[in-house]
Amino acid sequence: MSSQTIKRIGVLTSGGDAPGMNAALRAVVLAAEHYGIETIAFRHGYQGLLENDAMPIKAKDVLHILQYSGTIIKSARCQRFKEADAAQEAAANLDSHNIDALVIIGGDGSFRGADHLANHWQGKIIGVPGTIDNDLYGTDMTIGYATAVNIAMDALDKIRDTADAMDRVFIVEVMGRDAGFIGLGSAMAAGAERMILPELQKEKPLTVAALVKHIQRVQEIRGEGSYVMVLSEHQWPGGAVALAEQLEAEHHLPCRPCLLGHIQRGGAPAPADRILASELGVHAVELLLAGEHRVMAGKRANERVAVPLPDTWQKKNPLDQNLLRIQHEIFNPVKKNRRTKTDN
Ligand code: ADP
Ligand code: F6P
Repeated sequence: MSSQTIKRIGVLTSGGDAPGMNAALRAVVLAAEHYGIETIAFRHGYQGLLENDAMPIKAKDVLHILQYSGTIIKSARCQRFKEADAAQEAAANLDSHNIDALVIIGGDGSFRGADHLANHWQGKIIGVPGTIDNDLYGTDMTIGYATAVNIAMDALDKIRDTADAMDRVFIVEVMGRDAGFIGLGSAMAAGAERMILPELQKEKPLTVAALVKHIQRVQEIRGEGSYVMVLSEHQWPGGAVALAEQLEAEHHLPCRPCLLGHIQRGGAPAPADRILASELGVHAVELLLAGEHRVMAGKRANERVAVPLPDTWQKKNPLDQNLLRIQHEIFNPVKKNRRTKTDN
């Protein structure tokens, strides 16, 4: 199919919702209308595609949605979509609306689904990176990440007030699925004393003994005050609650857990997410017009890019090594002390 034949596109949001998904949807619809293309939205992600839960969507429906998180066309996870016959059903539903191309706003799972659908449908498919986890290769940032870090930072600042007042240790558990981007970003933005991130745990798992030693050394060096730790989800058996109990019971450190959970996906999207979503939504439509297929619309080093869908989950963006070094060495009071006192 040539780009000239694109008269009608489909759009859906899939997987865990991310702040900025609405802004991305708005951009897709506005860009499509600008280029004389009709848009059909499928509600509830792949579930809605299977149920043919479709509705025409126009500029007037999306004008004032970019300030809201969530997604007005709903999102869902749909196990059945992984099967071949489900993708065939989806293809038939897309064809029943004469849809020439589909824009999928979601994370790595949604892009796997997109690639799966591409094996069973002749239309063009473009992904837009929408996930708080920032775990998609090929784009410097995903839509939703900036807001999630902002929310985690804000929570950490508040925790710091009470932790400092009572000289307590706090463990704040953040999301990220299997990636430590939210953990690293929020720990640095809020000046946390410690981070427990998937990437670090893979290299060298932290023991309770090592953690206790670090807490005690920081307390010795700083005297009274707080110790705030950012824990990425799934990185400690039983999570922040279990770790806090261990530190209190076995080591008599006054310690409290705080689970941020889905709070990280709500509220007003940060400007960075609204702007990125607006740019990538338009980029997705323009990629379609340029004849692209099976790629993600991304942004890397200030350039718009088209990334083959399988690369987005098969390759990995590493954590910023310089930020890790700064957190671990320059901002680590124990390391600083070691250098000056030769106590390593
Ligand atoms: P996210 O897109 O946020 O990573 P999920 O991992 O839950 O979210 O994926 C969203 C949906 O994408 C799944 O519910 C499923 O419908 C579809 N999906 C995920 N992995 C695959 C796969 N390997 N094949 C086909 N569809 C998939
Ligand atoms: O992928 C986004 C995300 O919020 C992850 O950070 C988290 O692990 C997961 O989704 C939570 O999923 P659910 O909304 O199904 O609880």
